[in-house]
Amino acid sequence: MKKLFALLLAGALCFTACAADPKEEKTEITLFHATDMHYLSPQLTDNSDAFVQMLLDGDGKMTHLCEEICNAFTEQVIAAKPDAVLISGDITFNGEKLSHEDFILKLKKIEEAGVDVIAIPGNHDVEYPFSRGYEGNNSYKAEYTTEADFIEYYKNFGPDIAYTKSADGLSYIAKLGKNIYVAAIYTPQSFMTGVPGVEKETLDWLDGELAKLDADAKIITLTHQNITNHYPDDDFSYKYTLANNEELVEIYDKYGVDLNLSGHIHLQHIGQTESGITDIATSSLTIRECQYGVIRITPEKMFYNTEKVDVQGWAAANGITDEVFAEFDKYNDEFYFTSAYAKALSSLEEAKLTDEEKDALAALWANFNVHYFAGTVNEFYPRMLESEGYRIWQEKGLDSNWNFAYITTALGDIDLEKPQTSWEKTF
Ligand SMILES: [Fe+2]
Ligand SMILES: [Fe+2]
Repeated sequence: MKKLFALLLAGALCFTACAADPKEEKTEITLFHATDMHYLSPQLTDNSDAFVQMLLDGDGKMTHLCEEICNAFTEQVIAAKPDAVLISGDITFNGEKLSHEDFILKLKKIEEAGVDVIAIPGNHDVEYPFSRGYEGNNSYKAEYTTEADFIEYYKNFGPDIAYTKSADGLSYIAKLGKNIYVAAIYTPQSFMTGVPGVEKETLDWLDGELAKLDADAKIITLTHQNITNHYPDDDFSYKYTLANNEELVEIYDKYGVDLNLSGHIHLQHIGQTESGITDIATSSLTIRECQYGVIRITPEKMFYNTEKVDVQGWAAANGITDEVFAEFDKYNDEFYFTSAYAKALSSLEEAKLTDEEKDALAALWANFNVHYFAGTVNEFYPRMLESEGYRIWQEKGLDSNWNFAYITTALGDIDLEKPQTSWEKTF
């Protein structure tokens, strides 16, 4: 009897220790990719008019609504139950400790619902000395986050499911399905030089780890900055594309990385390295359209498409009647347009044009950006050619004006037949 009990116990122990995680046996998985939410803790802002004006003068981030947008996103994730959420950095506005502490409460809810989270820091998340709180017309110093703090804060959001980590503990690889891997790669960027790169130790570690995988492994890599230029201008791109991207891409090429996901540029754009590795830059979660990437992996294919955070639906489901949220789609459009229009108009201040002409040109530039940053220039382009602003641009020969030179350069790298919001590959 004793022998039988010992045998049963040994069998039970072996079953516990030897059985593979059923998640790791899945052949079809879904991942969400969210980036650059630049979340600012509600404890650090009173959302004063001066604060909102600062956002309008910036790139149109709706940081004053980030709490609600991120709550709506959290609920959407929990309802959709993807296998994992990948977050490629710039989680916080400017690296405030309080922002990380409050944001990880949302990630905790996502994990409690059975969805894994994989997060890496962006350049605004760690060792960034401009962390501030905002009150009325003033701002004050807020405690910033070190790399060591980040490791402690996010230990349950990626490193817990990783089977290998880089020496600095900030890059790691997790197995998310049968022969499906996500390598999250930390790419530090000095705030002094603004130039991002991958550390040599990280490259060596990645090279060694990818070498251990099967030749037909499906590999998704995650970086904050981009591995190829998403705006076709080298002078502009040095702060966005990794300085040693070639060394990283050489490793990707060697092991057949299927897709790199990035953020940082706040632009929705699908780029390719010269060797043919696709880098999808997903736009910021808190900038119109408030979208994230959905990646589906099947034995035959890998798909990417964007989904919007349904803030209106979230407001309705939660009984929130405030107009900003109940009619969020309208607010979102107007906020971004207002921000872009004001910048274009001020750049035309000195131009010898009538007010009507300036208005038409500023509207053209703002509308272009509305679509450019959401990855939908293809929708706008035919309307752009018919617009009053375009007619004036051509008639007045404004090609040397920065705003219009910028549109021309951007169009040099845009497929006008399809949006930058979907992609697929066949294995
Ligand atoms: Fe960012
Ligand atoms: Fe960034």
